[in-house]
Amino acid sequence: MRDLPEFADLRDFLAWCEGQGNLATISEPVPLAHAMTAVHRKVLEQGGPVLRFTQPIDGAGRRLKMPVVSNLFGTPERVCAGLGVTLEKLDDLGAFLAALRAPQPPENARDALSCWPMLKAALATRPKVIKRADVQSVCLEDDDVDLARIPVQTHWPGDAGPLITWPVVLTRPFGTDAADMHRYNAGVYRAQVIERDRLIMRWLEHRGGAAHMRSWHKSGEPMPVAIALGADPATLLSAALPLPETVSEITFAGALAGRRPRMTPARTVPMMVPANAEIVVEGWVYPDDVAPEGPFGDHTGYYNSVEPFPVMRVTAITTRKDPIYLSTYTGRPPDEPSAIGEVFNQLSLPVIRAQIPEIRDLWLPPAACSYRMAVISIDKRYPGQARRVMMGLWGMLPQFSYTKMIVVVDDDIDPRNWDDIAWAMATRMDPARDVMVLDRTPMDYLDFAAPEAGLAGKIGIDATNKIGSETMREWGNVMKTAPEDAAFATDLVARCLPELGR
Ligand SMILES: Cc1cc2nc3c(=O)[nH]c(=O)nc-3n(C[C@H](O)[C@H](O)[C@H](O)COP(=O)(O)O)c2cc1C
Repeated sequence: MRDLPEFADLRDFLAWCEGQGNLATISEPVPLAHAMTAVHRKVLEQGGPVLRFTQPIDGAGRRLKMPVVSNLFGTPERVCAGLGVTLEKLDDLGAFLAALRAPQPPENARDALSCWPMLKAALATRPKVIKRADVQSVCLEDDDVDLARIPVQTHWPGDAGPLITWPVVLTRPFGTDAADMHRYNAGVYRAQVIERDRLIMRWLEHRGGAAHMRSWHKSGEPMPVAIALGADPATLLSAALPLPETVSEITFAGALAGRRPRMTPARTVPMMVPANAEIVVEGWVYPDDVAPEGPFGDHTGYYNSVEPFPVMRVTAITTRKDPIYLSTYTGRPPDEPSAIGEVFNQLSLPVIRAQIPEIRDLWLPPAACSYRMAVISIDKRYPGQARRVMMGLWGMLPQFSYTKMIVVVDDDIDPRNWDDIAWAMATRMDPARDVMVLDRTPMDYLDFAAPEAGLAGKIGIDATNKIGSETMREWGNVMKTAPEDAAFATDLVARCLPELGR
């Protein structure tokens, strides 16, 4: 099933990256506050390698022993590698995900399921329970718990303090058994360190972790939580993927990784934890225990406002003998989440096409935060179709609720090419006729341009050719060079102007 070797843990993946010339070790001292982000950003902007900082320096100028790894998924190619596939196989994986979501797999989705029997079978397998796990080689409990031992970055000058950015947060709903790992949720939710044994869990309200918390707190019970830091690449990416609720991220990660996930009982909470992680943080979230979170720089390129979020009381930190801390920053794109977003958007194209078949391609520009703007190409056949597609995306597919701009183009336009988009808008669109503006629709509360928190307008721009009753005028014909003339020109230029071919 996989194009690439199995990665049993983060170290295996790092070794593979190093073998590909894709890992750089920075052995000079680098301050955890701000400077490490600046280095990471500079390298990421140039499509550079994974970074291993061996001398992280804390706020008091002390060198911490634990190395920091960042830029793990700084390029779409490395995101694909983390999923275990090359870019070519990504579309097949997307078709499989679409089939998983469909209650009645359509013809093409049935094909996808039959092409991926191993993956389907793997989703039914149970994780393997390990008694002696590497991640529990060192165990700090009670008064020994100290989050300051972990080299957590303070990313931006206006940040409230240290922020854990790549935690895989494991929760399960109230009334389930700790051994029933199919019911676990794994999500990546940033966690602010506020004391040696207290973290703020910033799961947004619609996330799996928040839903589980509500189920425990409704019964007046604290919720056990386990956080895996430095999980294997398949677990990291599965936790960030919006999987169907019926699919557990843990089993999905095992299916992607090509091996049964190794789990082990946590030391101080009734949870199972990934045995192959670098670090595990265990603890409880009590009802009504909240603290002001932030401000922190976010993927929008601005600082978030301070909001109350639940507090996790840490009861244990377990680690390998020589743990590595995995970190990243979020900021104005490009950042790692935007590289991940590019790959995930391609993965979700078959799911979107299953609902709106005339969609040919879709691009969510990373520069527009990977979700606030969409450009869609369609196979247009009838008047008004572009508007129907816009309404379909906004109405039928919840992930587009926060997409405030949609541009629809024909399928001769490349929706990933700004020159093509500009040409289509300049030549096929009339602002008075082809723009649809909606008012008071749901909006990302992070969007401070929205006049009211959570409520804002949306704009749809129909930049398709107008057909039938859409126009009374004769429409333009696209000019194209005839193939024989193009071939003649290529040949002549190669002979008479060879310097142009160089
Ligand atoms: C690096 C990174 C940081 C993230 N930070 C947050 C966060 O702070 N809060 C949040 O709700 N989602 C955050 N996300 C997005 C969620 O992890 C993602 O949507 C995931 O699918 C949620 O899982 P769930 O649907 O099981 O809750 C982050 C994703 C990444 C890759």
